[in-house]
Amino acid sequence: MDGTDTATPPVLILLGPPGAGKGTQARMLEGKFGYVQLSTGDLLRAAVAAGTDAGRAAEAVMKAGDLVSDQIVIDILRDRLSEADCAKGVILDGFPRTDVQATALDGLLQETGQKIDAAISLDVDDAAMVERVAGRYTCGSCGEGYHDTFKTPATSGVCDKCGGTEMKRRADDNAETVGDRLKAYHAQTAPLISYYDAKGALKRIDAMGPIDQIGIDLSALVQQSTN
Ligand code: AP5
Repeated sequence: MDGTDTATPPVLILLGPPGAGKGTQARMLEGKFGYVQLSTGDLLRAAVAAGTDAGRAAEAVMKAGDLVSDQIVIDILRDRLSEADCAKGVILDGFPRTDVQATALDGLLQETGQKIDAAISLDVDDAAMVERVAGRYTCGSCGEGYHDTFKTPATSGVCDKCGGTEMKRRADDNAETVGDRLKAYHAQTAPLISYYDAKGALKRIDAMGPIDQIGIDLSALVQQSTN
């Protein structure tokens, strides 16, 4: 390192359809590397629960499995990115999801002098996603994610991470809405794979194997991309 070193906090993007494992792996990366997981889905669900204007506008759209308006999501993301903890680096989980959001992200990063270290596509078969999403639940206290079959806590009903006993399921995690969310992904978000490929930032990972193995592969990719 010399006096000209200009390292800025890493920015990683996880791309993938509902159920690809973005949230599961983002939480793993947060624990391992100390970067902050920024899930626009979680931020929107918090806005719905708090009854803010943005939350009221987003609620019905999310229940239907459609995308919330770009302006609402960009505003929420911009506010969250400006918080102090994001100086550690961020993992964007579920953002950007449209070309308008991708362009807005480029603009935000230009303002802070940051760059995208990697946009990682979690490659999966759509056919397996309904089972993954329909079996998902999370700890109501700390947000740790579980699955009825693929990731169960050591003691049934008790969170491995924080000991919480209140487990929650999402309103949009049903087979019908997952179909609509998959359609929205392919129509509006999958084109971003080419967008980031053209920028030289795209990495791909096979996300159909066991959760732990994907975590190992992804960690190696993140290590490589941020060095
Ligand atoms: P969001 O909350 O982002 O949901 P999503 O993209 O549909 O993704 P999911 O959370 O369903 O899946 P995931 O990839 O995180 O999978 P997970 O790790 O949980 O968005 C919800 C809604 O908010 C959108 O529909 C939209 O309305 C709105 N929204 C959000 N962001 C927006 C934006 N930028 N613009 C506009 N609107 C926006 O894993 C799923 C399950 O599978 C878990 O139970 C897990 O344990 C299990 N699992 C994970 N990996 C594996 C594996 N390898 N093998 C077996 N099981 C696995």
